[in-house]
Amino acid sequence: MIKKIIIAGTAVLVISIIGYASLGFDSKASDQTSEYEHTLSPNATISPGNPDVDDSGNNNPYIPNTEGNNNTTPNGSSPSSEWTPATEMDLDPTSITVFVNQEHTLPKEYVPENMVVPDVPFDISRYDDKKLMRPEAARALEDLFAAAEWEGLSLCGISGYRSYDRQYEIFTSNLVTKGKAHTIKYSAVPGTSEHQTGLAIDLSSKSLNYKLIDTFITTPEGQWLEENSYRFGYIVRYPKNMTDVTGYAYEPWHIRYVGIELATYLYDNNLTLEEYYKYEPSPSFDFEKEYAEILSYRPTPTPSPTPTPSPTPTPTPSVTPTPPLVEGENPGEGPIEGEDPEEEEIPEVPVEEEPGDDNSEVTPSIPPENTDGDNTDDSAEGAPDDSDQESNEDSSNELPDGTLPDVNHNNN
Ligand code: DAL
Ligand code: ZN
Repeated sequence: MIKKIIIAGTAVLVISIIGYASLGFDSKASDQTSEYEHTLSPNATISPGNPDVDDSGNNNPYIPNTEGNNNTTPNGSSPSSEWTPATEMDLDPTSITVFVNQEHTLPKEYVPENMVVPDVPFDISRYDDKKLMRPEAARALEDLFAAAEWEGLSLCGISGYRSYDRQYEIFTSNLVTKGKAHTIKYSAVPGTSEHQTGLAIDLSSKSLNYKLIDTFITTPEGQWLEENSYRFGYIVRYPKNMTDVTGYAYEPWHIRYVGIELATYLYDNNLTLEEYYKYEPSPSFDFEKEYAEILSYRPTPTPSPTPTPSPTPTPTPSVTPTPPLVEGENPGEGPIEGEDPEEEEIPEVPVEEEPGDDNSEVTPSIPPENTDGDNTDDSAEGAPDDSDQESNEDSSNELPDGTLPDVNHNNN
């Protein structure tokens, strides 16, 4: 009997120990999962080209959750459980969930406060306002780029913030060079562009030569962006086949920061911002009427300068220099050009510092700079409507935002 009690007691003890140990292990493992799946540990270093392991041997901290979206943020925290979908359209320009479209416009003079240049590669190295973004969007973009780089992908920023005036230049330039039908599919009328909020940015990749074209979605970068941007609070704002809803053609390169909660919600439910806010054009809203003036924009013809007849130059008789002959010296052996020690020294011209943020100097080596720096832009946003042919057309034109009439730019 005593033997039986001892055996039973031992069994209970063993079972308890095993149960306790496994509980502890599980909880540790799940802690690690939440930490490592979505958090870049402060000491982790991104190792491009080695997508699975960081320098300390840790697993990729940016591995997306493949078992469905668990609403976990890149910072390891779950979106607030108190977050609930909005019941009203957000029309506050300063809000990260603001709704901007052709009908719900931004004040002409609206400029977001405290914008910064995100520390990510851009297609140009010099400072340009188009690199600016609102601080929350800039930080999230840096996380997004780090995660993409971890996966061995090479994204590139093309066009972030645009003022009302800049959008005006782009839009009218596109009207002139691309025609109205194309322009209104890819370019927002000034005052209606999300770029003016400092929350949107166009991205491309080296493999596309930094163009904004719809084939971006066929690149690993474009696909990754479509599947992962929500984890960093961004949405692909103008999805494929949603022109009737968004008013724009597919723009796989244009992402908009809305915060992780809303981005996750939209991704999980496959919703556009229009659908989320239950936007329906007001019966009185007529795009053509509303924007009749700008839609009929015609460039002011530049008067061609009257050529001034150039006076016929009087030929100056060339004088054959007679080298001074020094006795005993071969006249053909004078000082070699450029080596004359007496030659006047050209003073060094100080190089002017690029204005702006230091971040602009972080830009890694990138392609030959577009002269205007606007690789393109939405305007060009190159892309085509829905046909491949158009698409090709666009890519050759490379348009976008860069469409400044005063400079040579890559149109798309
Ligand atoms: N390409 C988008 C619609 C813009 O111009 O803002
Ligand atoms: Zn854009």
